[in-house]
Amino acid sequence: MTYPGLAGRMVVVTGAAGGQGAAEALLLAASGARVVAVDLQAQVPEVFAAGDRSDPSGPPVSYRRLDVTDEDAWQRLARDLAAELQGNPLRALVNNAGITHRARLGETRRDDWDRVLAVNLTGPMLGMQALAPLMGPGSSILNIGSSAALTAHYTAAYTASKWGLRGLTQVAATEYGPRGIRVNALHPGFIETEMTRGAPPAMREAQLTLTPLERLGRVEEVAELAAFLCSDAAAYIAGAEIPVDGGFASAGGSKYMSDSIRDASTSAALRPTLVAMLHKLD
Ligand SMILES: NC(=O)c1ccc[n+]([C@@H]2O[C@H](COP(=O)([O-])OP(=O)(O)OC[C@H]3O[C@@H](n4cnc5c(N)ncnc54)[C@H](O)[C@@H]3O)[C@@H](O)[C@H]2O)c1
Repeated sequence: MTYPGLAGRMVVVTGAAGGQGAAEALLLAASGARVVAVDLQAQVPEVFAAGDRSDPSGPPVSYRRLDVTDEDAWQRLARDLAAELQGNPLRALVNNAGITHRARLGETRRDDWDRVLAVNLTGPMLGMQALAPLMGPGSSILNIGSSAALTAHYTAAYTASKWGLRGLTQVAATEYGPRGIRVNALHPGFIETEMTRGAPPAMREAQLTLTPLERLGRVEEVAELAAFLCSDAAAYIAGAEIPVDGGFASAGGSKYMSDSIRDASTSAALRPTLVAMLHKLD
């Protein structure tokens, strides 16, 4: 699918060397956007080589190295883009780069906490500070949160960083709204990428148990919403936070309860307790 208002317009996607960021960059390019993909690695990622692209008819994605925690690098990017844009507004910034750290509160070391917050929260803040001045009416900023930002996910630093990103999203939506810049957040559930490849098997199983659609997500399914939110199809959507998680966060664990009650193997002793709990929730 292609999305309106993006053709010929410049868009920046962070953390775009793989996973969701690469899928977002490719889909935006397929809608005609001039995508600047940034990530940590120095060399151009394979996925942006012409032969590898899912839709080679779109404009090429240009790649440059940028660490989202590096304020000077953001300022250099802003200067270079300003020269290229020649007064035209930057169409969109997708703050997608993120790292996880699967440690509970009691096991979280200070340097890990700082590292995770630097990438997941300070990175988007620096990106907005650097690039919002290049934006104008119709421009859009999209922050990639997580279902961890909607729940009490056990990963202390990661969860706190993504809850913080929700607050930053709302502050930015309020501050930039009068300039016609829309700021939104998207909250992926468990999506198959490099980040989740290392997840403990029990986490994957629990996710499936708790997800109403009973499957994990694909990067393309996140990219579709990202491209929509950056496009004119979402012209009146600002300050929104939309999960792409198969119903995981909104179900709030109640799928497990519902399945347990239905499951014939549920012990007779446990069933009345669960039913009573359900009635209390009514
Ligand atoms: N995969 C999931 O299940 C899932 C779930 C919820 C939220 N998310 C979020 O979605 C986003 C994308 O994650 P993904 O699953 O594609 O992960 P991924 O690990 O495949 O991709 C993340 C990318 O960010 C880049 N990156 C890391 N630190 C960076 C830095 N300092 N500067 C620039 N780039 C940096 C990495 O090099 C990598 O290419 C992240 O913000 C993540 O927190 C992912």
